[in-house]
Amino acid sequence: MYIDTHCHLSSQDYSDIPAVIEDNKKAGVDKMILSGCTRESILESLELVEQYPDLYVTIGYHPSEADITTEDDLLLLEKQLQNPKVVGIGEIGLDYHYGKENIMLQKNLFYQQMKLASRYHMPVVIHSRDATEDTISILKEFSDVIGDIHCFSGSLETAKIYLSMGYYLGIGGVVTFKNSKLGDVVSKIGLHSLLLETDSPYLTPEPYRGGQNSSKYLPYVASKIAELLGVSVEEVASQTLQNTEALFDLDHNL
Ligand code: NI
Repeated sequence: MYIDTHCHLSSQDYSDIPAVIEDNKKAGVDKMILSGCTRESILESLELVEQYPDLYVTIGYHPSEADITTEDDLLLLEKQLQNPKVVGIGEIGLDYHYGKENIMLQKNLFYQQMKLASRYHMPVVIHSRDATEDTISILKEFSDVIGDIHCFSGSLETAKIYLSMGYYLGIGGVVTFKNSKLGDVVSKIGLHSLLLETDSPYLTPEPYRGGQNSSKYLPYVASKIAELLGVSVEEVASQTLQNTEALFDLDHNL
């Protein structure tokens, strides 16, 4: 049994969501943690998790929303943290890939959501792109918060810093890409700090790279990790499942 710890499930991307969930289950991916990271996708994800017992959600405003997120949006987030299907805050963080013009707004939004995580004892799901140094320095200010470095693709040194802070590394399709250096890092980190994710509909693993991603491809990520570490795929599945349950406490409030 697998849990996809990070995916985006929206009718904008998938025309038949019940069929997608059915296909995922057939592939052994029984549970999914959705990521609602805009006001619109938060509302849609919250509706889906009400309908499906095996779906959970993390909610939070992505750094790309920094210019438009309002007090009202943050109140919606805070209110929904009481919802038992909401298992974390994210994806939140910093993204300097397209420039740093709104760096103060990004940092401010990130801070406000880290404060909520601290106050409500919620794990966070971190999006960090071309912003490692600033991300780490903000996370260090919240030493009582832990979480998942979603779609980790940094160096071994960076990985070790996150691990020393109690964070897990979310590993997805990138690890299967031929030009990726991530495999090297994963093989040195070991299973105890890894979470499996697809980030679907993005970052489709080999051999389906280029097509639309879905949680049903999660086993391809697991088998690549098994190959890298020289362990069985069952071991990858069971250890990453334990890691997921330790971080997200899925059934605590249900
Ligand atoms: Ni994502």
